[in-house]
Amino acid sequence: MAVEPFDTVDLIRTKRNGGALSTAQLDWLIDAYTRGYVADEQMSAMTMAIFLRGMGRDEIRDLTLAMVASGERLDFSGLSKRTTDKHSTGGVGDKITLPLAPLVASFGVAVPQLSGRGLGHTGGTLDKLESIPGWRASLTNEEFMAQLESVGAVVCAAGAGLAPADAKLYGLRDITGTVEAIPLIASSIMSKKIAEGTAALVLDVKFGLGAFLQDPAMGRELAETMVRLGTDAGVATRALLTNMNVPLGLAIGNANEVRESVDVLAGGGPSDVVELTVALAREMLELAGIPDADVAGALANGQAMDTWRAMIAAQGGDPDALLPVPRETHTVRATRAGVLVEQQALPFGIAAWRLGAGRARQQDPVQHAAGIDLHAKPGDTVVEGQPLFTLGTDEPERFARALEALDGAYRIGDAGEPILDGGPLIAGRIG
Ligand code: URA
Repeated sequence: MAVEPFDTVDLIRTKRNGGALSTAQLDWLIDAYTRGYVADEQMSAMTMAIFLRGMGRDEIRDLTLAMVASGERLDFSGLSKRTTDKHSTGGVGDKITLPLAPLVASFGVAVPQLSGRGLGHTGGTLDKLESIPGWRASLTNEEFMAQLESVGAVVCAAGAGLAPADAKLYGLRDITGTVEAIPLIASSIMSKKIAEGTAALVLDVKFGLGAFLQDPAMGRELAETMVRLGTDAGVATRALLTNMNVPLGLAIGNANEVRESVDVLAGGGPSDVVELTVALAREMLELAGIPDADVAGALANGQAMDTWRAMIAAQGGDPDALLPVPRETHTVRATRAGVLVEQQALPFGIAAWRLGAGRARQQDPVQHAAGIDLHAKPGDTVVEGQPLFTLGTDEPERFARALEALDGAYRIGDAGEPILDGGPLIAGRIG
């Protein structure tokens, strides 16, 4: 049996006591964990030590590169198009990938969106797209490359070969209360993006009530850390810091989010979804060498919609198919006239999840028709009896728990009261 160069307990003690791990130690730790030599309980102690003690800049870089090295790396050098990608840290009603990928690809660049499924209150892009009849998330590497060349946009499941150390580590963090640590989030996200091989990357880093990191200062620190990691690894990386205090758009769920995305691609849709889609598209195209793209024009004139239809059809989906609707609905109405001053993202995300739009365990199915349609946004004037939002599910016994989550999550105030939306949607730009 090969002799291991380090002792796991020594490394845990070093980090527990606030010391720094070397490149060789982190390379070994991640490799040994991936092959099963370092046990889950040891790695749990290590992630908690990292959570409590943090990591220096060099350690975060070494951890990220060790996770990249744990699996395969894709190579887009055979494509005739430049690659540009985006990653969102996740939020409530965040369907931006759906209009964004075809919009950006309609300018002749390749957008390789390797996505995940939702867990907890943030929805997964693949779950949303799977509400389109026939659409399939799994592609072979050959199909993936061919679609990037022909259509430009691909949204599909990330194969198990990319950064397998992250998949194992993320599962462990999820059940040990160690998700919300900047070194661990940054290395997790960036290892997958670096392994994916995109030339350019725009990060949508969310802060606020419905985000992983509620504190804007921590959102900024995460964004700066990830931009540095990407840049150092040769990926042109930039980040927008965006506000996730209020749900994005009017739809929270799966099929209803696809419907809203199609509205955006048809030149309509809620103004916040359009604003963020356009802002991210401009950044992605600028990094891909197209600084003056008429992004809003491509939504208005059908150019982006044509790419959407081709993208859906290439993965077996019918872009004209009717999307599922929930069997049962329940509408909540305004109990008084006034102004909607508050609509908290997190409770709305949890309520949609309880209606069946999300899953509690990785292996659970989702209800594609379940979710929430908002009829008013913070700042809107409402009259008594006006619908505020509609809950939808196939299982009406779910309404009570969803409504419980929404207790105190929205408020109608008087004209002139401050709107508690946390400020502008786009709060900063890094890189
Ligand atoms: N998304 C990831 O991929 N990893 C994290 O750690 C957090 C969000």
